[in-house]
Amino acid sequence: MAKKIYERPVIKKISGGVPGKFNIPKRNYIDEIDGHSVQELMDEYGSPVYVVSEKTIVETYRKAHQAFATRYPKVQFAWSYKTNYLDAVCKVYHREGSWAEVVSGFEFDKALNNGVPGSHIIFNGPGKSEEDLKKAIRHKALIHVDHFDELYLIMKIAAQSDVKPRLAIRINMDTGIYPRWDRFGFNYENGEAWNAINRILLSDKLELAGLHTHIGTYIMTANAYGVAASKLANLAVRIEKKFNHVIKYIDMGGGFASQNTLKGAYLPGRDTTPSFDEFAEAISNAIINSDIKPANLPVLFLETGRALIDDAGYLLGKVLANKRLADGRRSTILNIGLNLLFTSLWYQHDIYPGKETSFHTENTVLYGPLCMNIDIIRESIEFPLMNPGDPVVIKRIGAYNMTQWLQFIDLRPKVIMIDTEKKVHIIRENETNATFQSIERVPEYLR
Ligand SMILES: Cc1ncc(COP(=O)(O)O)c(C=O)c1O
Repeated sequence: MAKKIYERPVIKKISGGVPGKFNIPKRNYIDEIDGHSVQELMDEYGSPVYVVSEKTIVETYRKAHQAFATRYPKVQFAWSYKTNYLDAVCKVYHREGSWAEVVSGFEFDKALNNGVPGSHIIFNGPGKSEEDLKKAIRHKALIHVDHFDELYLIMKIAAQSDVKPRLAIRINMDTGIYPRWDRFGFNYENGEAWNAINRILLSDKLELAGLHTHIGTYIMTANAYGVAASKLANLAVRIEKKFNHVIKYIDMGGGFASQNTLKGAYLPGRDTTPSFDEFAEAISNAIINSDIKPANLPVLFLETGRALIDDAGYLLGKVLANKRLADGRRSTILNIGLNLLFTSLWYQHDIYPGKETSFHTENTVLYGPLCMNIDIIRESIEFPLMNPGDPVVIKRIGAYNMTQWLQFIDLRPKVIMIDTEKKVHIIRENETNATFQSIERVPEYLR
């Protein structure tokens, strides 16, 4: 039998295993994902390793789609590439029926490579180059204009093109969420959005296909979407009245909060996040109850990112060491750093032992392995004492980490996906020194 590890005595109310008012508390650990042992996944694919559960992607997507499709007749999701643009992940969303929402030429090409027809790509973002715009126009993509300079550039391109650009404008507005996101798109309240709409509709070289907003990110009030959808619906009605022009779609962007917990939040995200049904209710009611004529009801686009993928991602790693800080607090060093878990800057991630442990927990600081003071994964977590080498699992990391990760100090590990039949596939290889040597150049005089 392995030698038991020494645990420093601490005085603490014992609740583990003792029935409480609501239940018998369970030991908190995750030792398997979709039928695969956490330890065995790391033995085979390395540690750390990212795991994506296709089953969770599909279940979450279908739940979200159902919430909207049962309340509104024409719904179309467009997968927000920046949230997670690994091809295998995108392909699952496209297979489920999602279009693509991209914000750069790089993401646009990725979507084309993933087999998405240009006409099913929504092109957002404030930084589209002339070359990007020409490509998007050629492919008949839906271009969401961010500012007047972009609109003038599109007009210039359109003047020399046989293809009529299909446009929407991004609109920012007061929805009761503060601080307001007013840096993207045209403002609703000050009349800028109406001005942009007029300019587009007065040009016979441009098509105004839709209206778009993305009111912010990690939004915890469904009502804010109701306010936003009403404002867009009002614009659609005004456009029809003045120009006799019917808007084909209203795009409500992304931003639904996932069940992660924000730093400083009083309650865990899983207790406070509105459900897809609540978001769908607020949005569809606002459009259905507007003055838009039933025959002209626009398609409702959703660019939901984090709320669709966060739960499907796990990051597996291990304990490297334990030590006491000068003030007596316990700290544990993991082999997972901020470079691999960018979202730990704003979330208190759910972190679990990857195997059964003792009921005893102690307030612990979880550090990453980087030689940088900012490399903190959790400032404070009740965690059992674990030995170097013991597995840990970080849950709900599917959004933004596999795109905002940094090649900093160390190389990025493999990403694997467990398919719905429980087969494991490598969907991104780990980096090696050769990966970087292939793009670095040393000038002749330094060789
Ligand atoms: C235009 C746009 N659409 C969709 C998204 C996805 O947002 P989220 O992941 O919060 O749903 C973003 C993210 O910032 C965005 O900028």
